[in-house]
Amino acid sequence: MQTLLSDSDSEGLEDSQYSLRPQTLDEFIGQGRVKKQLRIHIEAAKSRGQALAHILFVSPPGLGKTTLARIVANEMGSSFKSAVGPAMERLDIATLLTNLEERAIFFIDEIHRMKGYVQESMYPAMEDYKIDLPIGQGPAADIITVPLAHFTLVGATTREGLLGGPFRDRFGNRIHLDYYSPEEIQIAINRLSERLQPSVKIEEDAEYELARRSRGTMRIAENMLRKVRDYATVESDGIITYEIAQEALDFFEIDELGLDDNDRTYLRTMIEKFRGRAGLKAMAVAVSEDERTIEEVYEPYLIKLGFLTLTPMGRVATDAAYQHLGYPTPEYQSTLF
Ligand SMILES: Nc1ncnc2c1ncn2[C@@H]1O[C@H](COP(=O)(O)OP(=O)(O)OP(=O)(O)O)[C@@H](O)[C@H]1O
Ligand SMILES: [Mg+2]
Repeated sequence: MQTLLSDSDSEGLEDSQYSLRPQTLDEFIGQGRVKKQLRIHIEAAKSRGQALAHILFVSPPGLGKTTLARIVANEMGSSFKSAVGPAMERLDIATLLTNLEERAIFFIDEIHRMKGYVQESMYPAMEDYKIDLPIGQGPAADIITVPLAHFTLVGATTREGLLGGPFRDRFGNRIHLDYYSPEEIQIAINRLSERLQPSVKIEEDAEYELARRSRGTMRIAENMLRKVRDYATVESDGIITYEIAQEALDFFEIDELGLDDNDRTYLRTMIEKFRGRAGLKAMAVAVSEDERTIEEVYEPYLIKLGFLTLTPMGRVATDAAYQHLGYPTPEYQSTLF
C-alpha cells in the first residue's frame, strides 16, 4: 500500500490549476449550512470593520478546508498568510504574527500537529492580539509584550481530538465539513471538465458514475476525472461516455462503492490475518502504512460506509465489509463486542 497523506495545497499540480479552485463562497459547492454561517460572520465583521473570530475547519482530507480558508480571505478582502503546523516553532510563529496586516487571515494547516508549547504561545495572540517575546538570554533575559494586528487565525485539522482543549476552545467558530453527495460532486466534475485545458468531453451519466464512486470527496473526484480522461484519450476518442467511465474505473480497480485497492487490502488484511479485529499498530505493520494515514485517510470513509467500527478492543470489520468483499459472514461476529 503506498499512499501519501494528501498534501494540503494542491502541490504537484501545474500553476494554472490553482485557479481551478473555487474562489468565492458562491462557487464553493455544497456545505450549505457552513456557507450560510460563514456569510453571516463575514458580513457582520465587515460591517463592524473588525477581524473575523478565529475559525477551525475540521474534516477528513480533501473536503475543502484549505479552499475555504482562502475563500474566507477573498470574501473579507483580507491578506492571506499560511503555515504548516508541525514545522512551526515559537519564534517562527512570532515572526509571522508580528508581520500580519490588520484583519489578515493567518492559516495554519495540520494544526493538530503543532507542538504543545507552540500552541500555548498562541493563547495571548488569539485572545488579546499580543505576544510575549523573550529578549536576551540567561538571568538577564526579559520579556517584552508586542502588540499585534487584529488578525484571524484559521486552523485546519483532520483530527480535532488531537488539539489541546484550551487551544481548541479559543476558536470562536469550529466548523465541520461533511462528505459530499454524488449530486454535489457531479456539479464539481461538470465544472472541472469545462475548466480544464483542453476541456474534457464527458457525458452526464458518466459524470454521475464518477461522482458516485468518489467517496464523497472532492479531491478524489478531481483526481478521478483526470485519470479517466487519460484512459479515454488513449483507449477511445477522448470522450468520456458512461461505458468508457465504467471501463476506466474497472481498469483502475475502483469498485462500485469507490473503494480502491488500498481500501480493499486494508479490509482483507483485517479479515484474513486478524479474523476481523485488530489494533491500529498491528494493522499499520501488516499493510506497511503509517498509523496516521490509516486513521486519517482510510478509516473515516470505511466507518461512514459502515464497514468498520472502532471499539475499545480494536477496529472491527463489520458483516457488511465481509459481504462486500465476498467473504462468508462470521457467525458470532456481532456478539464479539
Ligand atoms: N465544495 C467544493 N466545491 C468545489 N471544489 C471543491 C470543494 N471542496 C473542495 N474542492 C476542491 O477539492 C480539492 C481539495 O480541496 P482542499 O485542498 O481544500 O481540501 P482539504 O480539506 O484542505 O484537504 P486536506 O485535509 O488534505 O488538506 C481542491 O482542488 C478544491 O478545489
Ligand atoms: Mg488542506
